[in-house]
Amino acid sequence: MAEKILVIGACGQVGTELVENLQSMHGSANVIASDIRTSDNPVFANGIFETLDVLDKTQIAEVFGKYKPTIVYHLAALLSATAEANPKFGWELNMDGTFNIFDACLEYKVQRIFWPSSIAVFGPTTPKVNTPQSTILEPNTIYGITKLAGERYCEYYNQRYGLDVRSIRYPGLIGWKSLPGGGTTDYAVDIFHQALKTGSYECFLNAGTTLPMMHMEDAVRATLEITNAASNSIKIRSSYNISGVSFNPEILSAEIKKHIPSFEISYVADSRQKIADSWPQSINDLQARQDWDWQEKYNLEKLVSNMLENLKSEVLKSN
Ligand code: SER
Repeated sequence: MAEKILVIGACGQVGTELVENLQSMHGSANVIASDIRTSDNPVFANGIFETLDVLDKTQIAEVFGKYKPTIVYHLAALLSATAEANPKFGWELNMDGTFNIFDACLEYKVQRIFWPSSIAVFGPTTPKVNTPQSTILEPNTIYGITKLAGERYCEYYNQRYGLDVRSIRYPGLIGWKSLPGGGTTDYAVDIFHQALKTGSYECFLNAGTTLPMMHMEDAVRATLEITNAASNSIKIRSSYNISGVSFNPEILSAEIKKHIPSFEISYVADSRQKIADSWPQSINDLQARQDWDWQEKYNLEKLVSNMLENLKSEVLKSN
């Protein structure tokens, strides 16, 4: 029987690219994109779209009842900077949204669920370099707190109710097809747009702020691979560390300069610096490699040339 796949929070940075991939793998008729807002990205015009507010249980029941999804990707959340600006709503959307969707998944007997966690589960007391899978988790952002509670909730629902939920801790995600919204790692996408449009970039993080990052193609592949892996290979039911590439704004700008020698970067740190300072610099993902064969494809050189190459035509089109 064909899978019916529901993507919740589909218009976001990950959802947009995930929906495109799922449509080509499973056919547009089997992929239901849903979000509280709409998007003019053509990917949504080509398939099924439903308006869905994860805080509205009636709407959730309608969508689950109508499509009876076999696989659900629950991506709706406020990211770190946006949640910091509105902590109560950050908690409500990220937690109540997850409770509502997990309960619907149990009720409608969804076979597999993907729920994203983040490097934001780590905090100032976590070892910063080669951060282990199991370590001190004392996040000090509301986003990190919701992700940590969500991870515990994933494991609890798996052990108590048998919900087959899979999760990874995304690092900062960098892609050219969609824009991030409200994260601390967003600079690493904005920088490419500004490099091509204006030749310079004012960075909101300091030059030496090293963070774990990943090309979106790797992130989408990791998402699909863990969701499609055999259930018994998923040993961790909270969330897996995964690693792509680590760099800071200075290193990234030096790599961009190899393509655009006149590119200039300046630094004016804002409130996001404090969030970035609480996160690790690099991640140990041995467990993901062992359990479901995770392997990244993009290093820094490849990531930068891919971003510039693809965005060049987009920027030219919009000029
Ligand atoms: N990229 C996210 C953020 O900056 C981290 O999960 O909020």
